[in-house]
Amino acid sequence: VEVHCSPSRYAEALDAQRVAGAHVGLVPTMGALHAGHRSLIERAAGEQDVAAVTIFVNPLQFGEGSDLAAYPRTREADLELCERAGVFAVLVPEVADVYPTWPDPPPTTVSVTGVSERWEGASRPGHFDGVATVVAKLFALTGRCTAYFGEKDFQQLAVVRAMAADLSFPVEVVGCPTVRDPDGLALSSRNARLSPEERRAALSLSRALNAGCGAVAAGERRPEAVAERMGAVLEAETLASLDYAAVVHPSDLQVPARLSGGETLRLLVAAQVGPVRLIDNVGVRVPEQETRAAGEARPAPAAAGAWAVASGSERG
Ligand code: PAF
Repeated sequence: VEVHCSPSRYAEALDAQRVAGAHVGLVPTMGALHAGHRSLIERAAGEQDVAAVTIFVNPLQFGEGSDLAAYPRTREADLELCERAGVFAVLVPEVADVYPTWPDPPPTTVSVTGVSERWEGASRPGHFDGVATVVAKLFALTGRCTAYFGEKDFQQLAVVRAMAADLSFPVEVVGCPTVRDPDGLALSSRNARLSPEERRAALSLSRALNAGCGAVAAGERRPEAVAERMGAVLEAETLASLDYAAVVHPSDLQVPARLSGGETLRLLVAAQVGPVRLIDNVGVRVPEQETRAAGEARPAPAAAGAWAVASGSERG
């Protein structure tokens, strides 16, 4: 694997590959790579001629007094994972290579209105401007490519898709299923900072999503009732502090007036657990038939299976 600290050398290496006829697959990361990242990297390497990975803990997307300093850094293990996955090039820049004016913010930033405003955007002001700005730079450096992002950060995926389309980047953005521990916890680099007790409490996020899916499967059509069902699961967990629970349209992340049969929506949850803020989400298909009058919905039996967020990676 070619490891580049210099963004311009990285860009040249990928340009040379494209001149030789290769198509590039890109996986942007902040390092501390886990099995979720590995699934993105293996997919990029498997589907494209050459895979590129960027590892950069982007200070612009962390708020004041946030967990930037505490963000895990595991450079050697990350590079080994890339090597084993057959990655062609890794970019590991310093902050000054990406933002020459740092610690002053870059004079040019990218802001995506609309889809970035609610949920994570409301709880973490400036976060998506930081994400959109760094991803725009990484797209510009990488050039024409297919870029793989995890659905775990579902709103980020929507923001990146909007940014790439609006600014005409020659980049195809691909969303990939969330990878979970066998007990349902969505993989996140931040999980490493949870104590065993907190990790157990963190399971309330996937439990909440299961409860939301169960309510939808049982015929609940009122989005606020589905959100309440999820919120109640999180509020029952003493070590978790609920930020939001919502059912939204997957493209614009707006709450529908009512759930319509046959449509696929997204359930979102966010909560603080110990020192870390955790998010999770899952797709849910609204049954065609209203099985019960609204308000009477009871959770579907666990055997319904299709909505269980309990194990393996979420498909579809
Ligand atoms: O998802 C992440 O790891 C980051 O937000 C990203 C996309 C690499 C931008 O810094």
